Amino acid sequence: MLNIALPKGRLGEQVYEMFEHAGYACPSIKEKNRKLIFENVEMGVRYFWVKPSDVSIYVEHGAADIGVAGKDIILEYGTDVYELLDLNIGRCKMAVAAKKEFDESKLKTVRVATKFVNIASDYYAKIGKDIEIIKLNGSIELAPILGLSDVIVDIVETGTTLRENNLEVKSDILPISARLIANKASFRFHNSEIEQISARLKEQVREEKGI
Ligand code: PRP
Repeated sequence: MLNIALPKGRLGEQVYEMFEHAGYACPSIKEKNRKLIFENVEMGVRYFWVKPSDVSIYVEHGAADIGVAGKDIILEYGTDVYELLDLNIGRCKMAVAAKKEFDESKLKTVRVATKFVNIASDYYAKIGKDIEIIKLNGSIELAPILGLSDVIVDIVETGTTLRENNLEVKSDILPISARLIANKASFRFHNSEIEQISARLKEQVREEKGI
């Protein structure tokens, strides 16, 4: 059995559709219930839904042989896994945002609220700016509005959350998309199965891009 960790939620449903299209269907996964594990013995696959930010943990420790995680999660946790393929879905970006009138160049130390402490620290180290990190777990946009921070480092997808809270992007940090990742030992032991799945998914990415 190949264990596959899928990120719970809308992205995970899109990812499952890709696996289904690639020939690894598991119809029971579409039943409306709260089960977390689904298997198709015939195809030799077992899927499980995990919190998106935990996918790389399952894969790194070998509890899942492969999985799909956002580039943000892979970078933030510095996960020791193989990144096999950019699935070209779940596209968004990591950016610095603040109130429209805010000008970072005037401050010696910038207070940065974020869930992504490592990504934010690396970015500001690269541009040589001193920061104070304020780690939050969600609703990051509140921080500059309430004066808890000067800026935020967060994911921007449509830009709606920023717009509706009178914030704007000040700098782009990096583009993000969903990646197929593999446990390093599993990649050796289940090489042909994993390579086959990866190749079939790659085909779909190409078709989708029209190349
Ligand atoms: C993410 C992110 C932004 C929002 C961006 O939040 O943190 O708040 O999506 O999307 P948009 O540009 O399309 O508005 P998420 O929904 O993951 O919740 P969170 O508050 O827990 O971070």
